[in-house]
Amino acid sequence: MIELESVTKRYGSLVAVEDVSLAVPDGSIFGVIGKSGAGKSTLLRVMSLLERPDAGEVRYGGERVDTLIGAALLGQRRKMGMIFQNFNLFSSRNAANNIAYPLEIAGISHADREARVNELLELVQIADKKTARLRELSGGQKQRVAIARALAVNPETLYCDEATSALDPQTTRSILALIKDLQAKLGLTVVLVTHQMEVIRAICSHVAVLDSGRVVETGEVGRIFDAPQSKAAKEMLNVC
Ligand SMILES: Nc1ncnc2c1ncn2[C@@H]1O[C@H](COP(=O)(O)OP(=O)(O)O)[C@@H](O)[C@H]1O
Ligand SMILES: [Mg+2]
Repeated sequence: MIELESVTKRYGSLVAVEDVSLAVPDGSIFGVIGKSGAGKSTLLRVMSLLERPDAGEVRYGGERVDTLIGAALLGQRRKMGMIFQNFNLFSSRNAANNIAYPLEIAGISHADREARVNELLELVQIADKKTARLRELSGGQKQRVAIARALAVNPETLYCDEATSALDPQTTRSILALIKDLQAKLGLTVVLVTHQMEVIRAICSHVAVLDSGRVVETGEVGRIFDAPQSKAAKEMLNVC
């Protein structure tokens, strides 16, 4: 379980995330939806320990983690993978060498890296693109490379920040299907931030609706789609 309790994050006088409490069950695909500027990326950075909250607590498996420093912080961060809208890949490296990067950082031997990269390429179904330059890859293929890289060191949690927002609808569906498949295969917990309701509908079990930094509604996806209570959720669903 990943828990946030009364988390607030400010940038100067701007309150980006305000008094957010959430519980993400292990093995769930948990969606966070909200309009641009709602605080989704900030919330994800706090959850993934890239930024510290100004108030409140982040807990993994009941242990407080937002106060960790040094090796303990790095150890926690190694249990998380992240993917982004713009992929954040190295354009100077081919597909395989992008995927190998976290394995290099972790000090894995050349032979073991090679084997693991091959395994990961198979996992994300782009074995034929092993030596492709980045400019030779489509958006969907780049996101597959990014997913493979994020999973290279066997994280427990995958954080996705608008991972399908730059992709066409068909590619979006294929990437979401892959994430769902990987979640089941690897027992991942997935936290998925998006402004697209169809993304939530496609793969999330739970969702939190964020509006101006606050969670205005949270629960099982079916329930919120059937009977949205908040103005923000109704707007997202176009039912007001
Ligand atoms: N590093 C930062 N410095 C200053 N303001 C920021 C920073 N990051 C985000 N913000 C502000 O915090 C608010 C929430 O941003 P963000 O979390 O990126 O929203 P979203 O991902 O939902 O679009 C916005 O008003 C944004 O301008
Ligand atoms: Mg964002």
